[in-house]
Parts: sequence; C-alpha cells; structure tokens
Amino acid sequence: MNAINTIGVLTSGGDAPGMNAAIRAVVRASIFHDKKCKAIYRGYQGLIDNDIVSTTPRSVNNIINKGGTMLKSARCLEFRTKEGRKKAYENINKNNIDALVVIGGDGSFTGAMIFQKEFGVPVIGIPGTIDNDIFGTSHTIGYDTALNTVTEVIDKIRDTAISHNRLFFVEVMGRDAGHIALNAGIGSGAEEILIPEEDMGIERMLDSLKRSEKSGKSSSIVVVAEGDKTGKNVFELAAYVEKNMPHYEVRVSVLGHMQRGGAPSCFDRVLASRMGVFAVESLLDGKSNIMVGIDNDTMILTDLDKAIKGKSNINKNLIRVSDILTI
Ligand code: F6P
Repeated sequence: MNAINTIGVLTSGGDAPGMNAAIRAVVRASIFHDKKCKAIYRGYQGLIDNDIVSTTPRSVNNIINKGGTMLKSARCLEFRTKEGRKKAYENINKNNIDALVVIGGDGSFTGAMIFQKEFGVPVIGIPGTIDNDIFGTSHTIGYDTALNTVTEVIDKIRDTAISHNRLFFVEVMGRDAGHIALNAGIGSGAEEILIPEEDMGIERMLDSLKRSEKSGKSSSIVVVAEGDKTGKNVFELAAYVEKNMPHYEVRVSVLGHMQRGGAPSCFDRVLASRMGVFAVESLLDGKSNIMVGIDNDTMILTDLDKAIKGKSNINKNLIRVSDILTI
C-alpha cells in the first residue's frame, strides 16, 4: 500500500443525524496527523463529477450540532457501472487522494468494496444510518437520535389518542430492520410492535387489542416498521382493525423522513467523533476494506465483506419485554 498523504471523505445513501460530526472528526483527525483531507460532495456522484474541495480544521466549524450532512448525500446509480467507477478513479488521481472514508450504509459499503478491488484505493467505512441494520456495530450513527425523535413524537400522539379514545397506527422507518420500531415502541409504551424480522400475525395483534380493551384501556398505540411482515401496509392494517373493532376510532400516522432530521443526540455526536478518529487512525495504520464499529463501548473493526453480508439481529428478548409490559 502506498503512503497515505491525502484522505478523501464522503457521505452516501440515506443521511443520518451525526454524519456531520463524523465528517468533522475525519477532517480534523487527518490534519492532526499531518495529512490532508479532501471533502467530496454528493457521495459517489461528486467523485464522478470531481466535486471535491480541500479542507482545513475551520472548514468543519459549527457542524457538530447539525443534522443532515454538509457534504450532501446521494444514491448514485452511475457508480454501479464500471465506466462510472473509472471516472471516479480518474478524479481520485487528479486530486491526489490516497484513501477514502465512506460514511453510509451497506449499499455505500458495497460500492466502496468493489472500488477498492478494481483500483486498489484503500477504503474504510463508517456506519451511518438511522436503521441500525449493519453487522459489526451495536450502534450506527443516527440511530440514537432517530429513536429519541420517534419516542418524542409518539408521546405527542399518545396525548391526542387518550383525549379521543383512539387507536393509532404509527409507521416508522426500517425497510428491513425493526430496531427503531422495537426500541421506540417499548420506549413509548406501544401496545403492539410489528417488525420485519418476525411475523407477529395480524390475528395476534387483533387479540391483543381486544384483550387491552377488556383490561380497561381506552386508547392504544401500535408501532409498525415500514417493512413489517404481516403483508398489509399500515393503512390496510388500520382498516382491518376498524372492521373487526368497529366501535374503535382508528387513525394512522406515517412519520416518514422527519425521522432522519434534527440535531444529533449527544450519544450520536460522541459515537461519530470516535468513529471518525478511529477510521483515520486505522487507515494510517495500514488497514483497508474494513468498517469501524462499536461493541461494548470499544471501537472495533470488521471486514467490509462481513459487515455487508452479516445481519444485525434484533434482540428477541425485547419482544418478550414488550409483551410483559403491555398486559
Ligand atoms: O436507510 C435509511 C432509510 O431511512 C430507510 O429506513 C428508509 O426505508 C429509506 O432510507 C428511505 O429512503 P429514501 O430517502 O430514498 O426515501
């Protein structure tokens, strides 16, 4: 591997609160170690279009507390083609970039791994996604903030649900992962939680709502992950319950992209800062094709290949906890 003098940093895929803190950490840790850091805008698209600028420690002033990503993000189709990646490599050379830090999710890491294989550019991944669906880290950047956002919003929904004796279906993000639904569901005292990892069954949900009603509850919250396995979307679920429990007034709230915004929590800021420093120091230590992660408050490394293929399992004990606490 050639000596690393200049590190490029980009954010890719869905944005997540805390990405700015990670960018700040990568820029400052690079310069702290007497290296240069170049910022690449709009993810891989910026690499292809040569949308790349030099940084100083002051380039990343006042961003640690900001949601979104100052570098902007994109899901870049062109980078999936050989020609696209060739253009990106030409710009890597033009800018004398010796190694790349990619802040994103598994799709972004797949691109990084292919790029590394084709052109030999050292790459390191920093997991940034609200879904927390990446193997090799107990927490991804943005997940904690999203949990707090969702919990706060469900608390508000609960206020109006109680006032009107209504049943609310709240859809949260997570195409393939139920981490947000399960944890924010428990945190906000949801009656039922539907996640992609387990088919809880629509009848079971109905039974549980009937039981709750019998036990004296006059309003309820059901949290549904985007990718839940019942085979019905949140509106169909609501209609099904309304049909079977006609005396109940049912409403649906789809939280959507608000879950990706907002100021990062302190946890996410610290996590992103630690991951950014660790990523730069691992690159300078000769590591490549890996992802940084956290396990038991310790920074760890996982091969990108494993991080992409592995599954970040939900904690099944949480389902039991939820069942016990919703009697
Ligand atoms: O991967 C993060 C995520 O927020 C998912 O939870 C969600 O399904 C998806 O991105 C939405 O993507 P887009 O921003 O392209 O609509």
